[in-house]
Amino acid sequence: ATPIIIDCDPGHDDAIAILLAYAHRDQLDIRGITTVGGNQILDKITDNTLKLLSFINADIPVAKGAAAPLLGKLVTGEAAHGESGMDGPLLPPSKFRPVEQGAVEFMLNIIRSSEEKITLVPTAPLTNIALLLTAYPEVKEKIEKISLMGGGLAYGNVTATAEFNIYVDPEAARIVFESGIPITMSGLDVTDKAAIIEEEIEALKQRGPVSVMVGELLDFYSIFGKKMGFVGSALHDPCAIAWLLHPELFTSEKLYVTVETEGKLTRGMTVADRRKKPDRPANTEVLLGVDREAFMKLLFDSLERLDQE
Ligand code: BDR
Ligand code: CA
Repeated sequence: ATPIIIDCDPGHDDAIAILLAYAHRDQLDIRGITTVGGNQILDKITDNTLKLLSFINADIPVAKGAAAPLLGKLVTGEAAHGESGMDGPLLPPSKFRPVEQGAVEFMLNIIRSSEEKITLVPTAPLTNIALLLTAYPEVKEKIEKISLMGGGLAYGNVTATAEFNIYVDPEAARIVFESGIPITMSGLDVTDKAAIIEEEIEALKQRGPVSVMVGELLDFYSIFGKKMGFVGSALHDPCAIAWLLHPELFTSEKLYVTVETEGKLTRGMTVADRRKKPDRPANTEVLLGVDREAFMKLLFDSLERLDQE
């Protein structure tokens, strides 16, 4: 199985990404989960992570990371994810606690002590990853790749040009994109196409306990989507996991991508060089399309596996 670390801010779609990975333990070995301030403040999203893991009885170590971006104050996603950061289902209190170590030391230990290279899966602002790569640049050699959710070539969702995970910490995102580690970017170009529609959410709620819980998550999450004019609810973060499991479901382009940190209209924008002869070699596989039906089948089947455990 591919050893991975998920760096996240649950978050409705983060929670679904974790479930998707956990349902495929034969393929993905989740060595740890790290949390970062994003959709909500750090304590809330860490608590959400632990509650989710308790709910499925998954004793995966969780380490708390950065509460705020490298510069400035945290902007949360409360409008989309609610007061708890994961509003909707009523999950019982967690029986697990976070590890003592902070996220950076925790990731460092996993990476250093692993025989195989580790794949990082960030589905949140990139603060923890940037701190790791800056403090311990030698770990780059032992990181296989980074499959992240963030950015978008065509448009943003916080501003006209910036997607939330990049918008919250553009300096961190720039460090990660310019790190030299191969990146696969699930940005809005693809994640908005991985949208679940109302009938599918209703169908989930007729199934087993994990599917029902996900249906309740999506009931809440789709309220914001509708407000924003979307027909379905975009399953952003699960794309970063689904690509690891089934890359053939996606279409992509290999491009040089970095992050604008200064522009008045474009701070937090992922900028791709799409010229025929770009200045720099490609550093990112940008996912652009997805077979939506196959993606939904993967999700439904994966949740069913967890329902039966
Ligand atoms: C991203 O922002 C968060 O609200 C979601 O969890 C996802 O990671 C989408 O822009
Ligand atoms: Ca997220």
